[in-house]
Amino acid sequence: MEEKLAKEKEVLDYLNISRTTLWRLKKEGLPIVKVGNSYRYEIEDVKEWIAKEENVTYQNQNKIISTEIQNDTENPILTHISGENETDLNNNERIIQEYPISLVYLLEHNQKYLQKIFDAETIKKLAQSLANYDDLGLTNAKIVKIFSFEYLKLLKEQHQQETRPDTYNPDLQRFINQPNNAIRVVWGNCLDILKQMESESIQLMVTSPPYYNARDYSQWENIDLYLEDMRQIIRESWRVLDNHRVWVWNVGDIFDNDRKVTKSVWGKRRIPLGAYFIKIFEEEGFEFVDDIMWDKGEVESKRFMNGGMDYPFYQYPMNCYEHILIFHKHRLDNTKIPCPVCGSLNVNGNTQSEIGVQSWECKNEKCFIRSPNNRGKRFSLRTNMMQYWFDEDKNNVIEKSVQNKWRRDIVPFSPVIKVNSKGENILGHSAPFPEDIPEMAIKYFSYAGEKVLDPFGGSFTTPIVARNLHRTGIGIELNKEMYREAILRKIRSSQNLFGSEGNLFDEF
Ligand SMILES: C[S@@+](CC[C@H](N)C(=O)[O-])C[C@H]1O[C@@H](n2cnc3c(N)ncnc32)[C@H](O)[C@@H]1O
Ligand SMILES: [Zn+2]
Repeated sequence: MEEKLAKEKEVLDYLNISRTTLWRLKKEGLPIVKVGNSYRYEIEDVKEWIAKEENVTYQNQNKIISTEIQNDTENPILTHISGENETDLNNNERIIQEYPISLVYLLEHNQKYLQKIFDAETIKKLAQSLANYDDLGLTNAKIVKIFSFEYLKLLKEQHQQETRPDTYNPDLQRFINQPNNAIRVVWGNCLDILKQMESESIQLMVTSPPYYNARDYSQWENIDLYLEDMRQIIRESWRVLDNHRVWVWNVGDIFDNDRKVTKSVWGKRRIPLGAYFIKIFEEEGFEFVDDIMWDKGEVESKRFMNGGMDYPFYQYPMNCYEHILIFHKHRLDNTKIPCPVCGSLNVNGNTQSEIGVQSWECKNEKCFIRSPNNRGKRFSLRTNMMQYWFDEDKNNVIEKSVQNKWRRDIVPFSPVIKVNSKGENILGHSAPFPEDIPEMAIKYFSYAGEKVLDPFGGSFTTPIVARNLHRTGIGIELNKEMYREAILRKIRSSQNLFGSEGNLFDEF
């Protein structure tokens, strides 16, 4: 994405905010540039300010740059924001002349910091990977992106080596990393499998966990033992999930007996699994971010059949919802990341933009983007990912229809009907969730080409939807004997529906 200053109307249209909001931000200190009689804004600035209105860094600092600078061609830093016409505003050519960067230049410019965090071997590796690109004629933005990617790849490798468990299994990791779009079917207990995986190697996790005692495959003596097993898996998934990424956890507050005191039907009650899981996720380091209610539209239990007694305590209100819980992983990492504008590692730590998310400010005086009062670009790994590094390809677009469907706290859609009129299980699996859930999770919280894992694969709804959305779908399932046939059948029929090409699935 290229940086340029936007007019007020462009800001309002592009970010879909009201004029009042923009004026309020302006009053609070949002950086602005006055050109002629109108104001210009840096879109990224406005986004940041919307996201975090209480940000104090720029409070009361918006100085208006007078129209005089329009003709100030002496100042290479400001030339790109001056001038009335759009081509001048985005004068990439001029910037390249004023401050041309190349991959070799960035390697040199950042040498000092690179030596601080990498050994000579790793720096050599970086130089070699950069040498594979032909950066001649590339825009500065593209060059910065390449440099950042290769740098962060090595940073990630370093982290993976440092946190690699003894149980790491290179064969499994090779299987997961194979360069094709086949659905990865991994058989086994997901706790064991997760322990064999590389740290921060999965960009999104989506699942509905096995239900405590509500189904035939349940295996726990009481609720505490169940939750403890889940905790182990959640703990290991914190290591495997990539930094600043998302876990989408679909769970119902089932009506059952927690079996701690009695096992009788009278001991049944609403077990607030959603609440219990939020606590466990938080204790294991995740940030609880949201709870979207799935309105299933029909009650599942038979508790309304209370012998026809229309009297108090015989009847009871019914519910028909499940939670879709959203958790974030934010591992605080203070290793510097390159300015997304100029590629410099000459950056200073700012306050964390949210807990665990280190933000930075560019100190490179030659950086192309300076605020009106000459402050450098502010950014974090998370904002860079969202604003600079993803590709605006069609597979990353969230359709308006999907957005409208999920633009509310309680979202109605049908559960997967499990039995036919004769009571037969027609899906070959006892608890699939509807495609709506992984579809939302994948579209909202991952980019095309990334890895999406469901550790409780079940009928493999998540990996199938992931593959159809051009992500790499990975599923782990314990019950090979019971489900293999049904899973493979479902994967095969998904291809008929979507006609996607290439290797359909691969088993480990
Ligand atoms: C609620 S189902 C998942 C349904 C899935 N979302 C779907 O759409 O089909 C839970 C699945 O997890 C599996 N399972 C239970 N414990 C497991 C474990 N420790 N490791 C891997 N799979 C497990 C069960 O066999 C079951 O298929
Ligand atoms: Zn910079």
